[in-house]
Amino acid sequence: MNILAIESSCDETAVAIVRDGRKVLTDCIASQVALHREYGGVVPEIASRKHIEAIYSLADAALAESKLTRREIDAIAVTYAPGLIGAVLVGVNFAKAAALAMDVPLIPVHHIRGHIAANYLAFPELEPPFLCLVVSGGHTMIVEVKDYTVMRILGTTLDDAAGECFDKVARVLGMPYPGGAALDRCSQGADSTKYALPRSKPGANPYDMSFSGLKTAAINCIHHAEQVGERMDIPALCASFSAAVSDTLVPRVEMALRETGLKKVAIAGGVAANSRIRTALLACAQSCGASVYLPPLKLCGDNGAMIGSQAYYEYLAGHTADMTLNAYATKSLLGEAL
Ligand code: KG4
Ligand code: ZN
Repeated sequence: MNILAIESSCDETAVAIVRDGRKVLTDCIASQVALHREYGGVVPEIASRKHIEAIYSLADAALAESKLTRREIDAIAVTYAPGLIGAVLVGVNFAKAAALAMDVPLIPVHHIRGHIAANYLAFPELEPPFLCLVVSGGHTMIVEVKDYTVMRILGTTLDDAAGECFDKVARVLGMPYPGGAALDRCSQGADSTKYALPRSKPGANPYDMSFSGLKTAAINCIHHAEQVGERMDIPALCASFSAAVSDTLVPRVEMALRETGLKKVAIAGGVAANSRIRTALLACAQSCGASVYLPPLKLCGDNGAMIGSQAYYEYLAGHTADMTLNAYATKSLLGEAL
């Protein structure tokens, strides 16, 4: 089954064609990152307009690159939630028009389910059940993937997402948007114990997390140094911050592995590219006797292929939509409206 998949929830317009959920025939991306960099973050209105400009030619390019004809496309998939509402709407409207015109099923895909499915593309042998640490620019959660479309959220951030904090701290350090990768690079080989930053334990659920206090503490640390004219060890601050994020995430994953007895752990989302988190997760899996799945960096960020992969399993589960499909800025990974 060949699925043409569309992703437009943030600042990348992406169109991919994926066969049977696992084989990527083509994966085209038009990134707007350079455009938003000037503003230090994504400007939603500009993102929506750029998606409209890019999506038609990108879909044509994806089809041409796959060497398939339109008749060989069996379904259209699209990210319908969550994301910047105007941006998601562009993809949803394009997908509805394409499905109608081509007379094929329309498959709505939750963006975070797509991030998780990036692991199916990277690891053909991976099948549920497994545990997945989801860390993106907008979401941070520990998910038990019971089956391809059946999930349980063990814990989530109660405030900021990890990626958002990476980007805010990087911005205060003068790194260009999105600064997570630059902060990660800057931290390499530096002393991660030099700056004492908090590891919070919020709420009653031990799997829940909080990052806003850590973000504020790191930013205060930078501002304080500026005010008293102290020279900061920037690489050490980046390393200390990354270590605090990792120490918030990975012990909870370890607890979840031990409690659920699952023997497989994967990671998903843009922050899954972080070197310290990857190393810590690897060590955590080893100590629990679990297999670890760390997708290549290209599959960690937003892309269309991950939507095409998850779409196949949504289709098998009967999760298709009609022309009343809408876009949602927020929606739970489990499917119900927030
Ligand atoms: O999943 P994603 O592409 O977009 C969302 O769905 O939100 O994630 C983007 C996030 C950004 O916050 C970016 O700074 C972060 O992933 N990121 C990183 C690294 N590479 C990307 N954060 C920390 N370390 C990295 N190496
Ligand atoms: Zn994403």
